[in-house]
Amino acid sequence: MNFLIGTTSLEATATDLLAVGVKQGEVAQALQGLDAAFGNKLSETLAADEFEGKAGSGKAYPTFGHVAAKRILFVGIGDGSPSGLAKAAGRVGSIARDHGVTQLALHLGRVPAKDLSLVVEAIQEGNYRFDKYKPEKERKPALDTVVLLGTEKPVDGFGKASAVAAGQSLARDLINEPAGVIYPETLAAQAQALASGRIRVTVWDEKKIVAEGMGGIAGVGQGSERPPRFVHMTYTPPGTPRAKLCIIGKGVTFDSGGLSLKTSAGMMTMRCDMSGSAAVIGTMRALKEIEPDVEVHGIFGAVENMPSGTSYKLGDVLKMYSGKTVEIHNTDAEGRLVLADCLHYATKLGVDATVDLATLTGACVVALGEEVAGLFTPDDTLAASLQGAAARASEQIWRMPLPESYKEKIKGEWGSIKNVGGPDGGAITAALFLAEFAGDRPWAHLDIAGPAFYDKAHGHLAAGGTGVMVRTLVEWITTP
Ligand code: BES
Ligand code: MN
Ligand code: ZN
Repeated sequence: MNFLIGTTSLEATATDLLAVGVKQGEVAQALQGLDAAFGNKLSETLAADEFEGKAGSGKAYPTFGHVAAKRILFVGIGDGSPSGLAKAAGRVGSIARDHGVTQLALHLGRVPAKDLSLVVEAIQEGNYRFDKYKPEKERKPALDTVVLLGTEKPVDGFGKASAVAAGQSLARDLINEPAGVIYPETLAAQAQALASGRIRVTVWDEKKIVAEGMGGIAGVGQGSERPPRFVHMTYTPPGTPRAKLCIIGKGVTFDSGGLSLKTSAGMMTMRCDMSGSAAVIGTMRALKEIEPDVEVHGIFGAVENMPSGTSYKLGDVLKMYSGKTVEIHNTDAEGRLVLADCLHYATKLGVDATVDLATLTGACVVALGEEVAGLFTPDDTLAASLQGAAARASEQIWRMPLPESYKEKIKGEWGSIKNVGGPDGGAITAALFLAEFAGDRPWAHLDIAGPAFYDKAHGHLAAGGTGVMVRTLVEWITTP
């Protein structure tokens, strides 16, 4: 997708779709010379249609040759805050895709330079569709060219925003692909495909995983015909790194629940259970282009959680990579076992901070709903920097507590700990489990079970994987 800066007036801009952002209650100001071109009927019509510029609202009209554009789309930007701008831009991208519009012009008012990247990212987020398995005639083309009106070209261009959008789209593609296409070996191959230039990738196969003692990954993976993989990607900056960071993703390519089998309904979308690792791969893809002055390690364990004669069982005691032992009380609490081995591996890298991302618990969706990711960390400084990054990226995270006293809930009978903590506070006990393997350096966990995947279209997001947290991670990594 190409982004250009245009300098024509609204009425003189020749385009298939002219999108005009309107601040809440400021319809007249947004119309500029347009209303006159329509004999002042445009303001009348918008008023009759009760369009006031509420964030996310929209109205489209044909122009019948009164102006150079073929159609006009008015979108509300609310108070003009970054999230209002992003919502509007996302909506424009989505409407364009629904109608197969390949080129448009967009005027959102004087967008501050710092928010322009977000707008460019949101257009692409809204324009995304996963339609490769649809018949040709049901597929609509993506946007090709977007002309941004009424704003100045940012000094550093649109390169970073396009890299972030491409990373997010890659994550979404990986999530949306069926589990028959993306399984541990092919997910690892997707990471491997990025290995060139400043990115190096190491993949461990099932033999190496067992030989190294990664009992969590090996245990969850042993019930599947598809053997597990452990993946370590490294981005090395051109100069001396300003910092060393690690991101870890849950890579369960399909979560049937294992012997603690899920219901059909509960299993339906469980190809999304590798969304954390998809975010890691997408972020690494973006970093490769952006080339920040930070060393970044991207790690994930890829497994398929299946019931079979070789599955790990309830009552099993797994010896983890760290040496701790875990009693299995439910094979559907598999993500934490996979992450635990990755977290322990990361403690040996000497990084300044580690963030893991996982579609970890249904309990987190109950607590925060489908749009907000849970943030769990004992480190106030890391919490603040992630919260800042998420706010700038217009993604929603909310810090949750890690009460010391709840550790009681995961105390084991036979091993060091058990893999479930009972019915209450399930997202917290899952995070406390991870904390046992995270070491002493700053660490944070993001439970993305809510926002990683939508069954139906959600706002400007198409149904399916969202690539959530790619933007936040890139923002966190690239901001000193
Ligand atoms: N992958 C699921 C969590 C999940 C649920 C992600 C809904 C996305 C949407 C995870 O592996 C799981 O099954 N967790 C169990 C844990 C329980 C057995 C302690 C859960 O949340 O029910
Ligand atoms: Mn599970
Ligand atoms: Zn899972």
